[in-house]
Amino acid sequence: MTQHIATRFRRLKRTPALRAMVQENVLTPSDLIWPMFVTDGENPRTPVPSMPGVERLSVDLIVKAAEQARDLGIPAICLFPYTDPALKTQDCQEAWNPNNLSNRATRAIKDAVPEVAIMTDVALDPYNINGHDGIVRDGVIVNDESVEALVKMALAQAEAGADILGPSDMMDGRIGAMRTALEAAGHKDTTILSYAAKYASAYYGPFRDAVGASGALTGDKKTYQMNPANADEALRLVARDLEEGADMVMVKPGQPYLDICRSVKDAFGAPTFAYQVSGEYAQIMAAGQLGWLDEEAVMMESLMAFKRAGCDGILTYFAPRVAALLNS
Ligand code: PBG
Repeated sequence: MTQHIATRFRRLKRTPALRAMVQENVLTPSDLIWPMFVTDGENPRTPVPSMPGVERLSVDLIVKAAEQARDLGIPAICLFPYTDPALKTQDCQEAWNPNNLSNRATRAIKDAVPEVAIMTDVALDPYNINGHDGIVRDGVIVNDESVEALVKMALAQAEAGADILGPSDMMDGRIGAMRTALEAAGHKDTTILSYAAKYASAYYGPFRDAVGASGALTGDKKTYQMNPANADEALRLVARDLEEGADMVMVKPGQPYLDICRSVKDAFGAPTFAYQVSGEYAQIMAAGQLGWLDEEAVMMESLMAFKRAGCDGILTYFAPRVAALLNS
């Protein structure tokens, strides 16, 4: 007796045309934010050993990279400074120096490539002798004094021309304080992409090498970053940051926290971004170099997963490679 199967999912998988017709999500260069490391050192380019293919670049070369982003159709870049250890202090004043490395890079890029959006990082770790994102007094990360410092830092970045401020510090009250200060200073259109659900993660290791914060960090960041065991708290943090004036929110790290991306998008419908962090990048690159994975295929699949999980965009060190591939 012939058996009739009514629902054959394979019917729509038969040819590339049929598969393309029913594809639910797409990845385009405009989904990407490209994080880059800027340095003042003697070498214009220094490879980051734990992030193969990623280099710290001088301001001149960062401008070139921003031009490359524009040519590839990548709408935004994100700047992280590698700060001279001599400039790191207890009070972190370099963070709000109008002429610090990050602000100089912002101005240089704005001059040369105004069409690329510049995102900056608002957190004290590059400037802190303790490597923490907030100010440390007697071994404690003090919240409110840190917020005051972060507001000064945010204003200096907005003044330099940053389009998107990325507070990654996880202090309480920082979004509201920054938003109020920005409004008062006339920076009404500066956007805030809050690192709202940022976990205390071991996946940040290679990044801390890249910005020279690994050696500096005393202890861990568990008194301000999230416990990886928590999900409900992420929704409360996102609600809080949106209420305080964030325009967009982020989940970080990315792939291990795709469940959080999905629930944030479903609960709020706000522009939601994920950060595919340094450790995620390093894993894919390392397995690729060992010949254990098809690096390029895994790169593309890992990024599509963020779109499927509801993200509007992804911060990824793969950005130029992915964009070039998508454009080809
Ligand atoms: C610091 C900051 C970190 C990252 C972005 N901003 C590290 C940390 O919180 O220790 C991590 C990015 C990555 O791992 O790629 N405020």
